[in-house]
Amino acid sequence: MRKLSMLLCALAAAGALWWVFWGTTDAPSDGKRVLRFLDGPDVGGGWKEVIEAFHKAHPDIRVELEEGPASTNQREDMYTTAFSSGVATYDLAYMDVIWVPKFASAGWVVPLDERLSEAARKEFLPGDIAGGTWEGKVCRLPVRSDAGMLYYRKDLLDAAGEKPPETWEDLERIAKKLARPPSMHGFVFQGKQYEGLICAFLEHVWGAGGELIDDEGKVRIDEEPAVAALTWLVALVREKKIAPEAVTTYGEEEVRKAFQEEQALFMRNWPYAWKHLGAEDSKVRGKVGICPMVHGPGAKSAATLGGWGFGLARTARDPEAAWTFARFASGPEGQRILHRRNGAVPSRHALYKDPAVLAESPHLADLYQVVLAARPRPVHPRYSRISDILQVHVSGALVGKTAPKEALSNAATEIRAALAEERPK
Ligand code: GLC
Repeated sequence: MRKLSMLLCALAAAGALWWVFWGTTDAPSDGKRVLRFLDGPDVGGGWKEVIEAFHKAHPDIRVELEEGPASTNQREDMYTTAFSSGVATYDLAYMDVIWVPKFASAGWVVPLDERLSEAARKEFLPGDIAGGTWEGKVCRLPVRSDAGMLYYRKDLLDAAGEKPPETWEDLERIAKKLARPPSMHGFVFQGKQYEGLICAFLEHVWGAGGELIDDEGKVRIDEEPAVAALTWLVALVREKKIAPEAVTTYGEEEVRKAFQEEQALFMRNWPYAWKHLGAEDSKVRGKVGICPMVHGPGAKSAATLGGWGFGLARTARDPEAAWTFARFASGPEGQRILHRRNGAVPSRHALYKDPAVLAESPHLADLYQVVLAARPRPVHPRYSRISDILQVHVSGALVGKTAPKEALSNAATEIRAALAEERPK
């Protein structure tokens, strides 16, 4: 009996080992070189088309896309778990611009300097290359750029003789005049406790003349401009009823759907939404305008720089195959497809001047300047910790748990303490 249980234990241990080393990687059964990466849901089917086009040109390679959760935070956690375990689950890391310092300093992705010439780098928007650089080394090949902006119901504003708003005050005034809550709210934005909230919030902090962390590394999120920005956002939700309370549960897609269902006059979102709003079955097709985000008194409009691109995993099973695919996806054809299908904003200068792209998306001409001027979030290996702290406190204020000033003072204290700790997590 004892022998049998020892044998069973040994078998179980061998099984566990097999799973750790082989079970999570794909053994190519058809002799193809396999590579895998993770992104969110392929809304629009752009990745599917890119991968099919790549397979046609490279029949010996099979690309597998894992469609994970929509939230950047959850996908960052998934990559972190995979890379920390050292198992080659993903050969490419499809990285948000804010993950680069963490992934690069941990050595999970390798520098690309030798693979990417100076001339090749110049083909991309400078912010996307800078955002993918850590300690002087390019670690991410840009695929899509991103910048936050304001969408508005052009049909309704035009009919009322209103111009697009420039300031917080303009937005409030127009919303009070034209919105009809609860069927049509004034403003919807990403208010859920996650990274999107920080992107939306920072646009108002910067748009009031404030900072999260300045160039000298000083935490300034408890200063007056940031407090004014949060006070304004909280008042929109809680007292002025310009934004519905439900925004505290909204990510990008919930916001887009509310706007597309004609439930809001103004929306903060990324440019990807434009394609979906203009789709044939969209209720707001032809009724939408875009403009820079509104700003506070005496300050200037600001957009948060977002964006995605490929890092080459240190544990990639076939680095050459992975690089070939990354180059294809970030190349003109890959980006054209992702733009046409998913509304992804190109990260290549040339596509903003490409007549075929412009014929289909004339708004790209204006978007170019917005993307070029967008501001990065703090570039720090502990950015996700900084953001997590801020998310808790900004969200606490939006749901009415804490007053804005107190929320930001607590956030600043915790961020300072986190940054004072020596070792990155
Ligand atoms: C977009 C941006 C990304 C940002 C995320 C927040 O995907 O491109 O940079 O972190 O939204 O939700």
